[in-house]
Amino acid sequence: MIIALIGADGQLGTDLRETLAAEDVRPLFYPDFDVTDAGGSAAKLRDLGPDVVINTSAFHRVDECEDRIEDAFRINAFAVRDLARTCRDIDAVLVHFSTDFVFDGASSRPYVETDRPGPLSVYGTSKLAGEHLLTAEWGRHFIVRTCGLFGRAGCLEKGRNFVETMIWLASSRRTIRVVNDQVVGPTSTVELARAVRALIGTEAYGLYHLTSRGGCTWFEFARRIFELIGVEADLLPVGSKEFGAKARRPAYSLLDDAKARALGIPGCSDWETALKDYLTGRDPRAAG
Ligand SMILES: NC(=O)c1ccc[n+]([C@@H]2O[C@H](COP(=O)([O-])OP(=O)(O)OC[C@H]3O[C@@H](n4cnc5c(N)ncnc54)[C@H](OP(=O)(O)O)[C@@H]3O)[C@@H](O)[C@H]2O)c1
Repeated sequence: MIIALIGADGQLGTDLRETLAAEDVRPLFYPDFDVTDAGGSAAKLRDLGPDVVINTSAFHRVDECEDRIEDAFRINAFAVRDLARTCRDIDAVLVHFSTDFVFDGASSRPYVETDRPGPLSVYGTSKLAGEHLLTAEWGRHFIVRTCGLFGRAGCLEKGRNFVETMIWLASSRRTIRVVNDQVVGPTSTVELARAVRALIGTEAYGLYHLTSRGGCTWFEFARRIFELIGVEADLLPVGSKEFGAKARRPAYSLLDDAKARALGIPGCSDWETALKDYLTGRDPRAAG
């Protein structure tokens, strides 16, 4: 199976490359391969003739998206539409990633795929638009909504993932303010990549939720990181309002992965197990 992997050196892309190593993976790197260049992307994908195209690219600096609406929609929505059209033309399955930020956070139980979205931010809105445009263009797709990714490649676009950011901040010995009123399901990119591998072995196209099991606030996640690595950090729980981020985020965004599990897809483990595994395999220089 030929798999074109867009964003192959990103956080998720890196683990997908390793997890899918038994396949003929053709890694595509930005800016050589730019999803916003519709003509260039289409020509390159036609040349490759993939069975599956996996798109990990996104503009996901959530607060920056509030001021750069056009850029957010260019990458997260219109480029996804163009990829869908290309995949339709070359008859390739398109795998695309979306986010828990499509929801408003008012739920009191994990969101299922049929729940009504209600994004609170430009980022969430642009990702939801991408889902809709893709769905309208091409049926042979998997849209995977996930949350709070952490993986070895550390989230290149943002500089570091949350785990590495916490460890780095602790080394500065400052008080670390962490939001304690957003409940999330931090997810390991290794585990997500394994689930994606299983998903593309099926023809059960559609929308899926794939995140860690269980949930925690960002503050609880940070506290557990320091407990596990045995570092005493000066952690201060704060509310979202006090924290003052530009974009609004859902207060609760746990996703239910029952639909994927019912298909026999190995879901992700609980967030604490995934965090332990990540910290065990972590390069201690990663946060430097
Ligand atoms: N990170 C999270 O916590 C999180 C949570 C929920 C959902 N998601 C979704 O999961 C997916 C993967 O996230 P991630 O954390 O792996 O992101 P990432 O580490 O930032 O990787 C994104 C990759 O896409 C590349 N890219 C950026 N702009 C591009 C463009 N215009 N054309 C082609 N490639 C481009 C990046 O290249 P450069 O590094 O050179 O820019 C990078 O290789 C995204 O769809 C994101 O919205 C992420």
